[in-house]
Amino acid sequence: METRVYKIDPKKPDKKKIALAAEILKQGGLVAFPTETVYGLGANALDEKAVKNIFVVKGRPSDNPLIVHVADKKEVYKLAREVPRKAVKLMDKFWPGPLTIVLKKSDIIPDAVSCDLDTVAIRLPSNKIARELIKKSGVPIAAPSANLSGKPSPTCASHVIKDLKGKIPAIISGGRADIGLESTVIDMSGKIPILLRPGRITAEQLIDTLGKMHVAGIVYGKKKKMKRVRSPGMKYRHYSPNAKVVLVYGPMEKVIPKINELYVKYKSQGKKIGIIGFDDYASDINFVCKDVDELGKVLFDKFRDFDDHKVDIIIVEGVKQEGFGLALMNRAKKAASEYIKV
Ligand code: TXA
Ligand code: MG
Repeated sequence: METRVYKIDPKKPDKKKIALAAEILKQGGLVAFPTETVYGLGANALDEKAVKNIFVVKGRPSDNPLIVHVADKKEVYKLAREVPRKAVKLMDKFWPGPLTIVLKKSDIIPDAVSCDLDTVAIRLPSNKIARELIKKSGVPIAAPSANLSGKPSPTCASHVIKDLKGKIPAIISGGRADIGLESTVIDMSGKIPILLRPGRITAEQLIDTLGKMHVAGIVYGKKKKMKRVRSPGMKYRHYSPNAKVVLVYGPMEKVIPKINELYVKYKSQGKKIGIIGFDDYASDINFVCKDVDELGKVLFDKFRDFDDHKVDIIIVEGVKQEGFGLALMNRAKKAASEYIKV
């Protein structure tokens, strides 16, 4: 299949080009597009056949449900059977933006989207191209991250082109994703909100708005334990580059010598080493970040970049598991085959 690449300036999106891509969506085709988190692989969420094709193209397990993207809050009332007051509060505060809200689904959601759950995950992205695309298509857009299953989520069009060129009719190339990690996912379908996936909208921000929330088994706000609840997608190993990832975490004065020691050790074994962190480490390839936001933004990009450079080992300097750091550590741990706490 020939893949069209529409290059669109994210600051001044060309509406005519977006309309061409929207036409493909309307006709049941798949279009990869930028969002503020990562690139998505979109299909008309109400077209079961188109949605099923997403799973085929990505090689995605059929029990991992998709996020439905909308351009207007009003759409939520068509897609969800119940919209609790607290969910409205979240929508008002964090939309458009990197927050996905799980609600009880309405009958119009095909089983292919929700993978037989009775809920649907909905997000209103802030990226202008994404919103214009959804608006022009006139339908809600189901979209997982636009990578082959198991690869790191794509943060720029070149990643999507590498994974999906020849497999889908169109890719919108619209610049680098601002955030670089996938959206926060919160389940609002039960009595107590549950954080299913940490992201740029932080646990602290959500608690501020909701008062109480469960996070991976821990009740925030109260010191009570809860049973572990997970999102279907969280059980899969994700985000892994070909290189072995080693995550080193702890106080800076211990992390820096540990990473230097690991470098010497792996070097003596003849390995090629890439390091992503905050210090200018000796290494075959490295990337020095100024803060946690930058590390989040470049993590997936560097995984892919270091793979292209045939690196054997990628060492990642961990961060505190608070704020955006919780999301960053969640993704880094998923990619890592070794986690060293110093
Ligand atoms: O930032 C993002 O969320 C990106 C962009 C494209 O919007 N999308 C994304 O989609 O990361 P994906 O498919 O890679 O991750 C969706 C996550 C999975 O962990 C999935 O299990 C969870 O959302 N999810 C989807 N529907 C759900 C539901 N009804 N209940 C619980 N979890 C759900
Ligand atoms: Mg994904």
